[in-house]
Amino acid sequence: MSDKEEKLNIDAEPMGDNAATDSGGDNAETANAAEGGVSPRRRGKFSVRRAVQSKKEKKNKTDKKNKRNKTKKADGTDNADKKGRKRKIITAAAVIAAMLVAAIGISVIIDSHSLEKSFYQVKSNKVTDNIRIVCLSDMHLKEFGKDNEYLIHEVDKLSPDIITLVGDMNMETKPDKYDVVINLCVKLNEIAPVYYSLGNHEIDAMLFKNSNIYKDVKKAGIKIMNNETDTVTIGGTTMDIIGLTQNPKEFEEYGKAFFDKAMSATDNFKLVLTHYPEQFFGTLDDYNIDLALAGHAHGGQVRLPWIGGLYSADQGFFPKLCDGYHEIGNSRLLITRGLGKSGFFPRIFNKPEIMVVDIGWY
Ligand SMILES: [Fe+2]
Repeated sequence: MSDKEEKLNIDAEPMGDNAATDSGGDNAETANAAEGGVSPRRRGKFSVRRAVQSKKEKKNKTDKKNKRNKTKKADGTDNADKKGRKRKIITAAAVIAAMLVAAIGISVIIDSHSLEKSFYQVKSNKVTDNIRIVCLSDMHLKEFGKDNEYLIHEVDKLSPDIITLVGDMNMETKPDKYDVVINLCVKLNEIAPVYYSLGNHEIDAMLFKNSNIYKDVKKAGIKIMNNETDTVTIGGTTMDIIGLTQNPKEFEEYGKAFFDKAMSATDNFKLVLTHYPEQFFGTLDDYNIDLALAGHAHGGQVRLPWIGGLYSADQGFFPKLCDGYHEIGNSRLLITRGLGKSGFFPRIFNKPEIMVVDIGWY
């Protein structure tokens, strides 16, 4: 190599790796180092470092990619888990709801065939001995056992002095099908005298559908009352039983004259049989009724725990007068939840009721 070529080679070295590769020796290395270039030995080291570095970079890239994939995969798994959990919650809620509906359905069926007795005591200085009254209402042609065998048996066990029926024992929609009612009345009348006061279903069947229920029940020897009074003596007590069948809306026009006369006729204990508890939303509030017995509201049809009745046709939601004992003015009112139902909606948590009232002087 000529001096010129050698010079050119030395000058060329710092320009790049290829040029440096061709030069050799310590002198060249020193020269290159002094000029900021890279000696072949160091270049070798750099190449190794670069290779290691590029390997590392590749590895990092691969790791990052794997991580990204893993994250995506994990996200996908999480979403799938969330969806699965949501589906399980919905399924569990549906199963619980179905079980609740089934439990209510079973309870409705069982309850509708059972009978609950409710006992009340009423004090009056107009009676000399304890008088026991059994009160039934709103049967709506329902039967408890064949020919109401079970109901009759339960009433018989109570040994009542009188039995009162406060209306709606039939169905207005079946105006001629009341043989069940007559059969029951006759059987009950063998236990104790029956006093049957009419409700809206009997009145409407008679007025608008030519039902003969009043005549046929009377023919069977039962005291059936359509704005009528009967005076009875039980032990040493004389009692006026007043069957007020007029509804509250027509009371002024058709019921008041009869009721005023019945209430003022004697000082006897006044037992008023009126289908409608709503009479005590103003109509009968000012009378001194020793005891009034009513039905009609079916206990609110659905009985809610801690709340009571849910709905009655003439009082709407959360009816105030749908069951139990009430004191209104100078009068006392007992409302039975009744025995049956007239519409499609079932009685829920509302067992058919036999109301038992003991009237005593003590
Ligand atoms: Fe009714």
